[in-house]
Amino acid sequence: MSEREQRLERLNGMLRRRGFILPAFEIHGGAKGFYDFGPVGGRLRSRVNQAWLDHWLRMGNIVELSCPTVTPYAVLEASGHVGEFSDFMTVCGSCEEASRADVLLEAHHTNPDALKMDELQNLLDASKPECPACAATEWSPVEAQNLMFNTTIGAGSSGRQGFLRPETAQGMFTSFNVLFRHFRERLPFGAVQLGKGYRNEIAPRQGMIRLREFNMAELEYFIDPEKKPEPNLGDLGDLMLTLVGEGQEPSSMRLQDALDTGLIRHATVAEFIGRTHRFLEHVGIHTDKIRFRQHEQDEMAHYAVDCWDAELHGSYGWVECVGIAHRGCYDLEAHEKATGKTLRARREFDEPRTTVIDAWTINGATAGPAFKAMAGQVKKAVEDLPKDTVFPCTVIIDEGATVEVLAEHVKPNQKTIKETGEWYLPHVIEPAFGIDRIIWHVLDHAYKEDIKNDDKYVRMELSDKIVPVDMAVFPLFEKDGMGERAWAIHQRLCATPGLVSMYDASGSIGRRYARADEIGVPRCVTVDHQTLEDETVTVRSRDTGEQIRVPIDELC
Ligand code: GLY
Repeated sequence: MSEREQRLERLNGMLRRRGFILPAFEIHGGAKGFYDFGPVGGRLRSRVNQAWLDHWLRMGNIVELSCPTVTPYAVLEASGHVGEFSDFMTVCGSCEEASRADVLLEAHHTNPDALKMDELQNLLDASKPECPACAATEWSPVEAQNLMFNTTIGAGSSGRQGFLRPETAQGMFTSFNVLFRHFRERLPFGAVQLGKGYRNEIAPRQGMIRLREFNMAELEYFIDPEKKPEPNLGDLGDLMLTLVGEGQEPSSMRLQDALDTGLIRHATVAEFIGRTHRFLEHVGIHTDKIRFRQHEQDEMAHYAVDCWDAELHGSYGWVECVGIAHRGCYDLEAHEKATGKTLRARREFDEPRTTVIDAWTINGATAGPAFKAMAGQVKKAVEDLPKDTVFPCTVIIDEGATVEVLAEHVKPNQKTIKETGEWYLPHVIEPAFGIDRIIWHVLDHAYKEDIKNDDKYVRMELSDKIVPVDMAVFPLFEKDGMGERAWAIHQRLCATPGLVSMYDASGSIGRRYARADEIGVPRCVTVDHQTLEDETVTVRSRDTGEQIRVPIDELC
């Protein structure tokens, strides 16, 4: 095993033993692609989620939504997921284990994810990769496999087909009109949603990297495609980022320069690349392990017109953790077409626009005698008819009454229309975050092994912003009232909003510091004999080991 694999094994062992993340349903033999966040990881996950929400809500024109995870067939048919949301699968001829064809071919092509089915088939035939489960090299023909989990909504014959959502985004698109009203009909605005997404992955083999049920965090930001966003990115423009343009080698560049030179094609995409970088840094991702890679044209999701991934480097190499996609008007248009409902915003013109269009009016000499008292209403209805109307035709006049209008009743006319604005389909820029993958990299980057007494001493250098436990409280001994005093301090810390405390009275104080370091507790508070006399405690820092004496009242 390589040094990297050994470290990964130790890290995974610790994460499982200490209750960060662990395979789900293990007592029943487990289920591939499903993980639990345990007693330590659960809190870490909710802090990362909260940091993510705060990060975007701070923009001021974004609200949070929560939509169902069970989604009717019609919604995902309209969005293109029923037809397009597939990976290419092949099955081992010997052990019958299914694999993703592109993953099998990673050693044989620089970007197999971008290959079409027949290209994957040819490369599979030519390169004969080994099955990861049994090393055989015979493969079934490559086929497309839809990744959505099916379900039935309702029972018996009234049950309708549905799916577990593959992304949170669709609920936000179908809520567009509610958002439009909420924001007083003014773009740009956005909606964020945190929640579970589901993909029935063909072969989830890389721990937290490929899950079948995962935590997603998505922002759908609606913009007017005709309004140029502010090209000056402000402080974000000075961020030095590693960028990998389509078909290019990685290069380090100021974000503003990447926008100004056209490498990043849209200012809002550039802004969100910068904001994504800031968020990743905030939760403790090492900035030298972040890069942004532009998708190749044939690699993009079916809805995207431009897409940049934030890739993080860790024990599995470079891994896509965030996708920042320019989805154009794909989704709103698709839901409009499928439902007949409009999902549009209105833009007002600077000056009213007048247009002259060909139309019809009535011929007074023939229509007057024909329609008598109704002639005025027939004239109004005829003038609303399009130029390509063929006569005779039935025209609806007042309150649903109809009349038959003949060719002799009408004559061509030109109509002048004055418009003060127009309805249009907004475009959408979407940063979509895979929270589990980000948490995995936060843990991977924070994991420090020092040699202490010939052993590996583990310390998780987690950021204070997302650490699962803020303080651990230890009685030096559980006697002479130290245990009760320590427990009272622990309860007081727990009652402080936003603060998580842990009580530990088991084993030597050295063992307790080690256990706290292993889960990244930044400060440990020890209650000793002196505490009982002067109401002070020692506070030890995780990263320096330094201990200082602090009055209890100053702990929080
Ligand atoms: N909405 C982005 C994704 O599904 O990955």
